[in-house]
This record gives sequence, C-alpha cells and structure tokens, in this order.
Amino acid sequence: MKVSIRAETPADIEGVRAVNLAAFKQPVEADLIDRLRISSPDFISLVAVNARQVVGNIVFTPATLESGQMPISGMALGPMAVLPAFQRKGIGSTLVQLGMALIRQRSVPFVVVLGHPNFYPRFGFAQSIAYGIECPWPGIPKEVFMATILDEKLMAGRKGLVRYRPEFDSAL
Ligand SMILES: CC(C)(COP(=O)(O)OP(=O)(O)OC[C@H]1O[C@@H](n2cnc3c(N)ncnc32)[C@H](O)[C@@H]1OP(=O)(O)O)[C@@H](O)C(=O)NCCC(=O)NCCS
Repeated sequence: MKVSIRAETPADIEGVRAVNLAAFKQPVEADLIDRLRISSPDFISLVAVNARQVVGNIVFTPATLESGQMPISGMALGPMAVLPAFQRKGIGSTLVQLGMALIRQRSVPFVVVLGHPNFYPRFGFAQSIAYGIECPWPGIPKEVFMATILDEKLMAGRKGLVRYRPEFDSAL
C-alpha cells in the first residue's frame, strides 16, 4: 500500500470531512475543521492519500500560552484521524512525524494536543501539567492533555493556561 503525505488542497476538503466523520463517528471534528479552515490564521492541514483517496488527516492551529505579560504563540495539534480501514498501519504516526517536522521548521516553541495518552508520548509529548501548561477546558483528565517543548530556552519558566482558537469552544 502506497500512502503519500502532502498539504491539503481545495480538492481534498470533501475527503478530509469523510475521514473525520468515519474516524470520530460524529460530525463535531469535521465541522470544527471546516470552521478553522475558513477563519484560523496559520491553519495547517496535511492529508495522507492512497490511490487518490484521502485516508488520513492532521490539523494544526495556533495556540497561545498565557504566561505573564508576554503570551507565547505555539500550536495545537488536532483533530487528527485515519479512516478506520486504514488504522494501525502507521499512517497516523507518519502524519504526526511529518507534521511535527513542519512545525519545527517554523520555530514553533511548543505544541499541545488533547488525545490518546498511549499514542502521543512516542512523539515526545508528555502530560502538559508537568511543564506547568494548563488545559483551557475544565474536567479534562490530565493524562489526555499533553505538550511538547521545542524551544526549551524560550519556554524556560513559562507556565500558564493555553488558549486554543475560539472555533474549538463549540466543539468541546
Ligand atoms: C488515533 C489515530 C489517528 C491513529 O492513527 P493510526 O494510523 O491508526 O496510527 P498508527 O498506526 O500510526 O499507530 C497506531 C497506534 O495508535 C494508537 N491508537 C489507535 N487507535 C486508538 C484508539 N482507538 N484508542 C487508543 N489508541 C489508539 C495505538 O497506540 C496504536 O499503537 P499500537 O498499534 O502500538 O497499539 C486513529 O486510530 C484514529 O483516527 N482514531 C479515531 C479518531 C481519533 O480518536 N482521533 C484522535 C486522536 S487524538
């Protein structure tokens, strides 16, 4: 099976929606991505494509650490999804690795993710609270809100609440 990963194009929008609907079994994430695409600056969406079909998708949007007088701009990973029939074949991992490589090129100091605690640690994520980075939503178990620090110098001693794009508020 040959899967290639590339930036989303307008022709992929329907496929991205289909992947998210099938993986999450609800429209919340697909709708969120459609909103973010329209209104979020620095919206990053990569697709995994097999035989011209979108089979996986990963999205990154800006997130801000409200730390002292100088908020720090980082990114939030998510949603991400792989079509059920294509899961557990390494596609999700490749999407995270290539997405994070892109993020590093942009000198982003931190990335946060709300997701499976057995999946993201293999890519360098740890419970965000270990870094003093707090989840913006109440009631989220600490294991599922994770962060990775890409610029240790800039992030040294910086703690606080992380804010996602407002488009996420109606999704959680
Ligand atoms: C999570 C997801 C994106 C991973 O994509 P993938 O292509 O299956 O991932 P890979 O094959 O690279 O890696 C598989 C790993 O994902 C994790 N994983 C996959 N599905 C999982 C699930 N439903 N619950 C918990 N962990 C899961 C496992 O740790 C698995 O590792 P293992 O095979 O060593 O046990 C995909 O399973 C998916 O779309 N799930 C439904 C949507 C979802 O929950 N997305 C949110 C992710 S935060």
